[in-house]
Amino acid sequence: MPRAKILVTGGAGFIGSHTCVALIEAGYQPLVLDTLVNSDARSLQRVGCITGLQPLLLRCDVRDGAALDRVFAEHAIEAVVHLAGLKAVGESVADPLAYYDVNLAGTLALVQAMGRAGVRTLVFSSSATVYGDARHSPIPESAPYAAVNPYGRSKAMVENLLADLAHADPRWGIACLRYFNPVGAHESGLLGERPHGPPANLMPYISQVAAGEREYLLVHGADYETIDGTGVRDYVHVMDVAEGHVAALRHAAREPGILMTNLGTGRGASVLEVVCAFERASGRRIALRIGPRRPGDAPAYWADARNAQARLGWRARRDLDQMCADSWRWQAANPHGFDDPVPPMQPPWLGADLQIFHATSNLGHSNA
Ligand code: WQD
Repeated sequence: MPRAKILVTGGAGFIGSHTCVALIEAGYQPLVLDTLVNSDARSLQRVGCITGLQPLLLRCDVRDGAALDRVFAEHAIEAVVHLAGLKAVGESVADPLAYYDVNLAGTLALVQAMGRAGVRTLVFSSSATVYGDARHSPIPESAPYAAVNPYGRSKAMVENLLADLAHADPRWGIACLRYFNPVGAHESGLLGERPHGPPANLMPYISQVAAGEREYLLVHGADYETIDGTGVRDYVHVMDVAEGHVAALRHAAREPGILMTNLGTGRGASVLEVVCAFERASGRRIALRIGPRRPGDAPAYWADARNAQARLGWRARRDLDQMCADSWRWQAANPHGFDDPVPPMQPPWLGADLQIFHATSNLGHSNA
């Protein structure tokens, strides 16, 4: 059976590359469109090692309508998973126009090109930051938009754009996935998160402390009204998030209209609980220092995860211990991220029932 081709924008990134693994394992053929501004093309070689199918990489900016028209003309794309975008909260405050340009104008250019090509099935990578500093958790999808930074506001604006499009043209099937805190790595240890520079997020920072790359974790505040005074978040395994995209794609392909849904576990974990889980997983001690609260941080939020289960038949299956174990396996095997050579392959990662073929790719030149 030929594999349905799915365009994955931002597919060389952390969530994008894991989503390519899930798409391939679900029988699809991802084509990756990425500028590589914030990602590494070698992640797709790792996808090939894990699945036996290396996605084609198209170096292109979603804002380039003419280039998008060529992509849709050259490839029989059946749907789009749109992850390309800027996602650093602090950076969005400093440079809001970049966030509205890439996230909002980029999505507008993409859906216009999709319309011209007659491709009207879309999964959009949204974020729990559209809820802002939600006062009450678990947070349902019915909670109001209350973003408190340009990043979250750009995501909310895109959701509104897509809702208006779906209302105006019932041929569209759209799913907006509101990620809570994606963490972890593929269980093979071949794929994971490698932030450029000092990690802003908790899990990659803890990983680097465990590896001895960072001296200690600075805990941003221990005086919140939470179980132990530290911030609480809904951490969700990146492979659960990736599989959520496959479920959303199937839903959008069969149901016209638009669906907004959380992708979270429905459970919160504090910073100290994550640290303890990581110490269990790695056998390493994580040195801590308690610092002041980080501006903009909410004390606690986690998802109401019932809607994704009801509408997509999806729920998170991996727990915090597995998130930490998989993060550590990736960190320990790839201390320099994708600069490290691919470890010798374990046959189980090359699925026995998969053809071993590699789509032609320009990966050889993409790092030029
Ligand atoms: C988690 C907790 C920190 C680092 C961010 C983005 C959000 C989304 C997910 C895209 C908080 C504490 C962290 C550290 C710490 N990304 N912490 N020391 O802020 O919940 O969400 O990533 O959609 O948009 O804002 O995640 O991992 O930065 O923080 O104490 O060195 O860990 O205070 O309580 P956050 P995070």
